[in-house]
Amino acid sequence: MIQPLMRALLVTPILTLLILSLPAGRLRSADLYREPYRPQFHFTPATNWMNDPNGMVWYEGEYHLFYQYNPFGDRWGHMSWGHSVSRDLLHWEALPLALPEEGGVMIFSGSAVVDWKNTTGFGKEGHPPLVAIYTGHYTERPLQNQQIAYSTDRGRTWTKYAGNPVLDIGEKDFRDPKVFWHEPTHRWVMVVSWPVHRQVRFYASPNLKEWTHLSDFGPAGSTTGIWECPDLFPLRVDGAGGGSRWVLTVNVGSGAPGGGSGCQYFVGDFDGTGFHLDPTYPTAPGAPGLWADRGRDFYAAVSWSDVPSRDGRRLWLGWMSNWEYANDVPTAPWRSAMSIPRELGLRRLPEGLRLTQRPVRELATLRGPRLRFGGGSLEAANRWLDRVGLHEGGFEMRVALPAASHGIQGLRCYAGEGEEVLIAIDRDQGRLSVDRSKSGHRSFNPRFSGVTTAPLADPGAAHQLHLLVDACSVEVFLDDGVQVLTTLVLPSPGARRIEAFGAPRLSSIEAWRLASTWR
Ligand code: FRU
Repeated sequence: MIQPLMRALLVTPILTLLILSLPAGRLRSADLYREPYRPQFHFTPATNWMNDPNGMVWYEGEYHLFYQYNPFGDRWGHMSWGHSVSRDLLHWEALPLALPEEGGVMIFSGSAVVDWKNTTGFGKEGHPPLVAIYTGHYTERPLQNQQIAYSTDRGRTWTKYAGNPVLDIGEKDFRDPKVFWHEPTHRWVMVVSWPVHRQVRFYASPNLKEWTHLSDFGPAGSTTGIWECPDLFPLRVDGAGGGSRWVLTVNVGSGAPGGGSGCQYFVGDFDGTGFHLDPTYPTAPGAPGLWADRGRDFYAAVSWSDVPSRDGRRLWLGWMSNWEYANDVPTAPWRSAMSIPRELGLRRLPEGLRLTQRPVRELATLRGPRLRFGGGSLEAANRWLDRVGLHEGGFEMRVALPAASHGIQGLRCYAGEGEEVLIAIDRDQGRLSVDRSKSGHRSFNPRFSGVTTAPLADPGAAHQLHLLVDACSVEVFLDDGVQVLTTLVLPSPGARRIEAFGAPRLSSIEAWRLASTWR
């Protein structure tokens, strides 16, 4: 139910802007976070439309999260950068709009860096500036080019550079710059997408203002859809003596395994000029390509820049939606959430080097007491699940399934009258699946319903499912994050049962209720 105040907010942009400039405490007291599908531990804007995460950067103890935002409505439009900051990746403080659409130029996706050496000259009194590098999208002519803006007050206020654009090749589609400092060549490197060519382009700059073309990568992997929102970063290979590799992530507008938009990745080497695929990367014609997350709802993921080296993690999150239906998802007065922030890894498997993702360790700070089922029959597990009643709020669960040569085992969550989200390990078909074709609201878009799957490298083995369940999403991490399926669900109010099925015995279940980050 939308309260009358909320309805007024939806139709009154000026009021919306007023609310956005209120401190977070005031928002909470206005009960903005009690709508039925409002995520309790995932990031959402208080009101209106959001898509891609942008400008992810860590500076002076704060993780900045900017995002594609429409200040005037709950569908895509008037793209600007919204802004929030967090010290723990979970509790977010809403800040005023950082970069508004202006003069016929929308602010499309991009990145932000700390200009430690003040190469731009924007710094003041020994303090490095934060510099945002984004795409200017012209509404009156077919043009996208790269622009910059800077802040000298910890990201609180931003100034668009008077010399914009800083990179213009006269193209209609040329967007989503991700910039990082490349120490060996002592210069800035930009990876930016050339969507209709199914390519990313690399550029270098001494000062973020003048850019030189280095090379291009692609087409490769999945080329059905346009290429958007690339990222490029080194990751250590898990285990001793593994060295490190560069991972290039490229989001595709359509043709992802679950249908619609999704996030693919390449593993290789970046030599300061170009990206070269690892010899183990599957390049044969018809090779499936590699996907960061085979769920329907993980897009435009980008990683945080400048996470201190003493921390050493590569962290990212994605937009938890899909362009096939994003504008129709029936939530109000907000639309779209981000995935849980995840730590990235690279693991050597028999089939090659694979990206892994796990929820950030900070999530454990939201946990209530550990609830544990120490193993036993399916009936005993289900009695235990009934008793603990996890679906009263957000929760986290780890389920250990013993090895089995055949059959389908798993969990039903958000289950009720004719309704369920089915999470299954299918030994016969060798896959993990999440099926929302019987879950709550689906009719708002014919493409929403359906099943997503990820292959199991060893179907008969013991497997572990790690679930994060919030008010409108289920994230499933398989076997320490070798596969991830991120799925939006809109369960009916009565569908709150959770039960195990298929396995005669379960090795163990561990679960934690997760505290709401709004309280
Ligand atoms: C990806 C995307 C980007 C673009 C932005 C516009 O979801 O299409 O390529 O910069 O959204 O909102």
